[in-house]
Amino acid sequence: MRIKKYLVFILILGIFIVVIQSCEKDNYMVPPPAKIGKATSSLEAQFVNTAPLTLLSPYWKSADYLKVNAVDVSKNYLFGDGLLNMTGIFGGKSDWGTDPSLTLKAAYDSSNIYILAEWMDNDVNLSEASWLWNGPGDAKKADSTLKWTSQRNNDKIALAFEIQTASNANGNFSNVGCAASCHVNGNNSTMQPDAGKVDIWNWSLARSAPLGYLRDMVSDPTSFNDDAGQVSSTRNSSGATNRSGPAYEWDGTTQTVTLANGQNTILDPGFYLVNKTPFIGDMVRGDSIYHAANSCAHCHGEFGEGAEAAFINGIALNKKSRASLISAMDNNADMAPYWGVLGGADRDNLVAFIRGLSGVPGYVLSKPTGSCADISSVNNVTPIHVVNAMLPKNNVHTKYQVLIIRKLKTNNTDDAQFDLSVSKTFKFGVAIMNNDSRNHIGSPVETLTFK
Ligand code: HEC
Repeated sequence: MRIKKYLVFILILGIFIVVIQSCEKDNYMVPPPAKIGKATSSLEAQFVNTAPLTLLSPYWKSADYLKVNAVDVSKNYLFGDGLLNMTGIFGGKSDWGTDPSLTLKAAYDSSNIYILAEWMDNDVNLSEASWLWNGPGDAKKADSTLKWTSQRNNDKIALAFEIQTASNANGNFSNVGCAASCHVNGNNSTMQPDAGKVDIWNWSLARSAPLGYLRDMVSDPTSFNDDAGQVSSTRNSSGATNRSGPAYEWDGTTQTVTLANGQNTILDPGFYLVNKTPFIGDMVRGDSIYHAANSCAHCHGEFGEGAEAAFINGIALNKKSRASLISAMDNNADMAPYWGVLGGADRDNLVAFIRGLSGVPGYVLSKPTGSCADISSVNNVTPIHVVNAMLPKNNVHTKYQVLIIRKLKTNNTDDAQFDLSVSKTFKFGVAIMNNDSRNHIGSPVETLTFK
């Protein structure tokens, strides 16, 4: 009897152990190794059922990638008169510092192509051709810095695809990629082919990315221009040259914009101009009041760089509307003997001068339309990065992640079409820019393959 009970107990214990073990097996079973993306020799777009619409979409975690061997594509170029300190990678790759480790991943579904570009850049440059009054000199240029000049540049990535068989002295686009539309005999000033048509997709942190787009451009023998429709940025200039000065400034209202993907964001007036009002004030008069004996410059420094009192030439000052700057100065007891005595017009003249010390944004942004609105983007430059950026070079950053989305076929004559019934491979070029737009590094010819 006892033995029987004992056996039953052993049996139950045995079953218990087996059950526990199999439970443990279920719980702790080593999962199959996660698929890790591998380097491929062309950019392979896999077909997906779920569109990878964000940087966190699972597809990107395991996607194969093309590692671009970035070489000097164009270097040692300067801009024309009045454009200063805009060539951050004048010397090409050597000026970039560390290897940018540019990688590209791609996917497609029945309507779109998705390309994720990632590269290293240790600061964020967000402005293009901002207006500075008596701004700093550019060691590489002999330009006068008196009065208005256009300064600062932004970070960019650009892709080039062939629209119509394009060529120049370098060869055909199919062999030499974007070199067929530029860089002939060291002269890349035109970025145009001698025959055919090239599609340029230009992600710019100053001019297209803030609205969630890429600038969609087309280059042919007669022009290199934006596609048809409303462009995402227009020059904020009161005249024809890069010394003309700004036409507009921020009107003080919150700059809420709807991005290409339908989400809303607020654009920082320190860098971006959307809600605008005409720029008013006589700069020469503002300058002379500021520099009058024992006045503003005495406490704030010759160029607003700070002396007895705080610096007033930072981008932070652009985050204040004209009205709030005036009221801050009204409420400042230290300044009453200097500011308080000024009439209304001279207050505006001084605010204009202060704007010129901080830098007025060089472009006005507005939502693109038509063929200009074909390419949308998502990136990892958050508003937090931007708000913390007091000065253009002061914004620490590591890796850009830019997701580019476009219809396979737009059916616009100014776009490359990915007609997979005709071909599954397409040549393209890619270039990245760091605080620059004339000098770039990248790869003139790569292959995109639809799997
Ligand atoms: C006696 C010294 C002195 C003089 C002269 C002076 N300021 Fe100031 N200013 C100050 C101080 C102090 C502050 C407060 C910030 C700080 O602590 O430095 C200030 C702040 C400012 C600010 C910042 C306002 C803000 O909200 O950020 C501006 C702009 C400014 N001054 C412009 C001027 C102008 C224009 C003049 C000439 C009309 C002028 N200041 C003359 C001492 C001075």
